[in-house]
Amino acid sequence: MEHTRRLALRALIGGVLSLAALGAHAQEKQITLGFAQVGAESAWRTANTVSVKQAAKEAGINLKFSDAQQKQENQIKAIRSYIAQKVDVIAFSPVVESGWEPVLTEAKNAHIPVILTDRSIDVKDQSLYVTMIGSDFMEEGRRAGRWLEEHYKNDAGPINIAELQGTVGSAPANDRHSGLMEIIKNDPKFKIIASQSGDFTLAGGKQVMEAFAKTYGKQINVVYAHNDDMALGAIQAMEEAGIKPGKDVNVVSFDATKGGFEAMIAGKINVDVECSPLLGPQLMTAVKDVVAGKQLPKRIVTNETVFPMSVAAQILPQRKY
Ligand code: AHR
Repeated sequence: MEHTRRLALRALIGGVLSLAALGAHAQEKQITLGFAQVGAESAWRTANTVSVKQAAKEAGINLKFSDAQQKQENQIKAIRSYIAQKVDVIAFSPVVESGWEPVLTEAKNAHIPVILTDRSIDVKDQSLYVTMIGSDFMEEGRRAGRWLEEHYKNDAGPINIAELQGTVGSAPANDRHSGLMEIIKNDPKFKIIASQSGDFTLAGGKQVMEAFAKTYGKQINVVYAHNDDMALGAIQAMEEAGIKPGKDVNVVSFDATKGGFEAMIAGKINVDVECSPLLGPQLMTAVKDVVAGKQLPKRIVTNETVFPMSVAAQILPQRKY
């Protein structure tokens, strides 16, 4: 009788142990994340890619990474291939805002959760993605607008703005424009006299600014560049055209990269509105939470600020990108 009880107890302990081992194994199963990046158009993007890759490594997440070279069709192809590979989670930074319903519906039907990072999308069905992690681009545009209002508060104007837009149809290009307009629309002294896309690249910013300088020359009071790379390209174009950036023309930029800070220290960018690319750690936390079945907020907004050129020298040593 005693012997039978001992045997039964042993069997019970054995069962419990193998269940625990099974549980541990399930916990250890590595998560696979498919990430579809926009491209490598800017210093911001390079820093963002490094952040995502590093954070995945640190979190023990198996990362499948693709670069869409700023083309939506490439991103759609990458997402389809992640669906076919049955990854656990898909994350992407959408090149543009529209046109995502079909591919995201495919992901939804395959029960693969989608996380948006950096840029938002324009879809009716909000269930097509779990959460969106990134900056508030509208607020960034407002911040730039408020800086302009303050800077020109004692100037009767007119203040002519030449705008270097980011990628056509992208969330940061749309919102940095709208955010600025929201602030200056009731102040008739501000006028956008030229607006064109430089596709968020240095070469694009330079090319567009060359054309602006030829057409408008000294009429331009402000260059409103949607990112630092385009601002740096515009600075080159202005200098070649005999215009002093930061003095003859106030340069307003976005991102606050090290390159932007160096230009502020050189007196060539007047204000840089921060946009942080260091989204990797937050993304990996969200990926783990989604896999664990946790509920996530629909929007996770990055904390950011504004840097006028007067603080650049003091802040640059602490900049991480
Ligand atoms: O989506 C973020 C924007 O894209 C950054 O401002 C820009 O530099 C990048 O290319």
